[in-house]
Amino acid sequence: MRIEDKSLLKTEAYIDGKWVSKESTFAVSNPFDGTLIAQISDCNQEDTEKAIEAAHKAFKVWNGFTANKRSKILQAWNTLILENANDLAHILTVEQGKPLAEALGEIKYGASYIEWFAEEAKRVYGDVIPGQSTKNRITVIKQPVGIVGAITPWNFPSAMITRKIAPALAAGCTVVVKPSEYTPLSALALAVLADRAGFPPGVINIVPTMDAASVGQTLTSHPKVKKISFTGSTRVGKLILKQSADQVKKVTLELGGNAPFIVFADADIDAAVEGCFASKFRNGGQTCVCTNRIFLHESIHDAFLEKFALKVESIKTGNGLDTDVHIGPMINEGAIEKDLQLINDATQKGAKIITGGDRKEGLFIEPTVICDLDSNMDIYSSEIFGPIAAIYKFNSEAEVIQKANDTNYGLASYFYGRDYALIWRVAEALEYGMVGINTGVMSTVTAPFGGVKESGFGREGSKYGIDEYLNIKYMCWGGVE
Ligand code: SIN
Repeated sequence: MRIEDKSLLKTEAYIDGKWVSKESTFAVSNPFDGTLIAQISDCNQEDTEKAIEAAHKAFKVWNGFTANKRSKILQAWNTLILENANDLAHILTVEQGKPLAEALGEIKYGASYIEWFAEEAKRVYGDVIPGQSTKNRITVIKQPVGIVGAITPWNFPSAMITRKIAPALAAGCTVVVKPSEYTPLSALALAVLADRAGFPPGVINIVPTMDAASVGQTLTSHPKVKKISFTGSTRVGKLILKQSADQVKKVTLELGGNAPFIVFADADIDAAVEGCFASKFRNGGQTCVCTNRIFLHESIHDAFLEKFALKVESIKTGNGLDTDVHIGPMINEGAIEKDLQLINDATQKGAKIITGGDRKEGLFIEPTVICDLDSNMDIYSSEIFGPIAAIYKFNSEAEVIQKANDTNYGLASYFYGRDYALIWRVAEALEYGMVGINTGVMSTVTAPFGGVKESGFGREGSKYGIDEYLNIKYMCWGGVE
């Protein structure tokens, strides 16, 4: 791998401040050409328990630091990540596939969560509340929940870790991270830099594994783990929620989406085309907030489609390390098969392909635009997670709101329009945790990221993000006379 600092490439687990090598390993390969990148130590239940014990021991130390001291260490980590951003982006592209520029964007986006929560660490305020008795006084303090198990996905192998553990660490929690088996190298590189930044041993632990079920079960069932934060599919999220229920653990779930992208008759069509393109094809469509169903008002349907299809035809797929590539490979064969099935089902039921529609050599699908879709097709209710733009036509506001909300998911939604009253009505009516109004890109550290319905609960980022890792304690002071 062509990186400057080779010491960022680690293949061992990181437990209690030590690099732990295992006899049993699993392979990580480049999704672009299938070449082997590394053999990674494969952690099991016992390793996970050791990591939890280390986090437990470290909790007293870390929570005993002042917020200012924790903040300084987080800031040092942020600085090191930014200094090594090119290397980290390179590692990310090689194991995940996304183009280098996008990978670099992710590294900076991920670091922004550390910078933000390093500041928020110093602002975990309590309250003094006016009581209803002259004899009593009421105060509230906030305390870290304890040990956090973070289970993170392959589509954002760096930023989804920092978005979870930066607020946890800022709050005073210690963490055990299980990264995706497809992308452990980014997680381990973050740990190298965390080590250099000066986190005490056991504050951050990383347990890569092929056996996600066993490590996940250990994290959700261990009595010392007080909180689980998960980003991934709704199917696995439900399992984690059920497993965590036995001990009534706190849980944050960022799950799947089925984002509508609505273009109303009075919208700025060029801006809508740009916004839709950015939202649909980010990370090759493998993003939970990617546009999934594009609803076009019948009066602008053809004009939008013509401009949009032209843009899609110009997309270059290939090796993410090549600077002119817009979309890298999909993550695995299963992802390709699922998307081809969605295309087949739709065309068999009468849909029309405007561009793309076929598989290409390697883990690639042609960027696709497909129209004449309706709600009987599987693509309407499935999270596509690939470079397929699915187009629907509508003719009234009521109809499109009903269709946009006609899903169990509720993560991101988008619409373009200019009428002031319509904008308010639609934004309020959409049953989603996030609404992009005349924009297709809305993720930022300063805003609360999260969903409703089966897209999960809890919020990441923003002033709300740290609350997920804090317990509120009410103190009633009696006998004050
Ligand atoms: C995700 O796909 O879960 C994260 C995307 C983002 O932060 O915008």
